[in-house]
Amino acid sequence: MHHLWLMLLPFLGLVSVAPAEKGLEFPRYDGKDRVLDINDRNYRKAMSKYSMLCLLYHEPIPDSKELQKKHQMTEMVLELVAQVLEEKDIGFGMVDAKKDAKVAKKLGLDEVDSVYVFKEDRVIEYDGLLSANTMTEFLLDLLEDPVEVLDNALELRAFNRMDEEIRLVGFFKNQESEHFEAFKEAAEQFQPYIKFFATFEKTVAKQLTLKMNEVDFYEPFMEEPVTIPEKPHSEEELVAFITKHRRPTLRKLRAEDMFETWEDHIEGIHIVAFAEEEDPDGFEFLEILKEVARDNTHLPDLSIVWIDPDDFSLMIPYWEKTFKVDLFRPQIGVVNVTDADSVWMVMDDEEDLPTAQELEDWIEDVLSGKVNTEDDDEEDDDDDDDDDDDDDDDDDDDDDDDDDDDSDKDEDDDDDDDDDDDDDDDEDDDDDDDE
Ligand SMILES: *[C@@H]1O[C@H](CO)[C@@H](O)[C@H](O)[C@H]1NC(C)=O
Repeated sequence: MHHLWLMLLPFLGLVSVAPAEKGLEFPRYDGKDRVLDINDRNYRKAMSKYSMLCLLYHEPIPDSKELQKKHQMTEMVLELVAQVLEEKDIGFGMVDAKKDAKVAKKLGLDEVDSVYVFKEDRVIEYDGLLSANTMTEFLLDLLEDPVEVLDNALELRAFNRMDEEIRLVGFFKNQESEHFEAFKEAAEQFQPYIKFFATFEKTVAKQLTLKMNEVDFYEPFMEEPVTIPEKPHSEEELVAFITKHRRPTLRKLRAEDMFETWEDHIEGIHIVAFAEEEDPDGFEFLEILKEVARDNTHLPDLSIVWIDPDDFSLMIPYWEKTFKVDLFRPQIGVVNVTDADSVWMVMDDEEDLPTAQELEDWIEDVLSGKVNTEDDDEEDDDDDDDDDDDDDDDDDDDDDDDDDDDSDKDEDDDDDDDDDDDDDDDEDDDDDDDE
């Protein structure tokens, strides 16, 4: 709540008491217009004026007052980002899907409510949360070099700790190497979503077990990287490999590309795991989940989305209501992205997390279709009880009801807000700022 309040301040301009101390002045919108209304006459100039141009392609401005307010909130997010990044030579603009249809077409904007960033000859679609924090971080990442150079053991250690990210690392002769050049070109195409590293140091390369011109691909949460075959690689080969291997067995939902991740479902469903990393149970559950992911990374149809509810506080009441689960506990389930229908693994004993074997069996049942979101739709009976190959598998049937009760209780606690605004409103000003 505290964070939310801080986030709203800049929009509402409510602050009148300035703190006496300096050094922690939270930016607030100063009221100056920085976001351009892009149209047929000014878009070319805007494109050439800035090193990067960030455009929100939005629905036509509605007649209704309420929806106009919603639109203004979105614009305020952009205004605040523009203000904060004022020194960075980034332009910001709004493109109206109806009024500016011609410009949109020329620029190739097609997904309404998306943000497009034009940088040199590239267009990067931003498919993440429209919050000032997340967008600012995203744009700052885009301003950096697409390849980070690892010079020594210390930097290597930092690299090794980034196990939530898809990352690539290559060993090259020097900055001038044509193979490094190709690597850099490939990096630009995935920046900032996929991290690229390079080293020119033999000692660092040795620790990474890289040979000259070799590139390793690290899937999130896996212990061993995959060496991209047949070095040296052209830009196209790298891009093709990454595109093919991009969907990991286990990935963490990130604010900066959450919608893209959600769209990347497998035949309409996601396996979703909720676990709070900072909670002991959540942490332990994650360790089990990672183990199962590592053991099953060969399965092409297995991709689990891990959501840490701490990263998406504004979504918690919505998820608890929609999925009827208690997010104070770790959960894993299957979600149908068409109707948000879901089924969740029964964790019999409140205290006991599933073992890796139990989790693996459940996942197997999901992949084979035995566990699915449709069976309980008409009749709730004869789900053949799953084969927990351990001792006590007597109680598969009291599952849903338990869950319901729990989550209802929790909802009542903290959920006196908006039942009626379904989606984006919640997200617009989410504060994923606890990093
Ligand atoms: C998801 O839900 C839709 C609509 O209820 C249904 O038509 C579809 O078959 C479901 N998909 C799966 C994989 O269960």
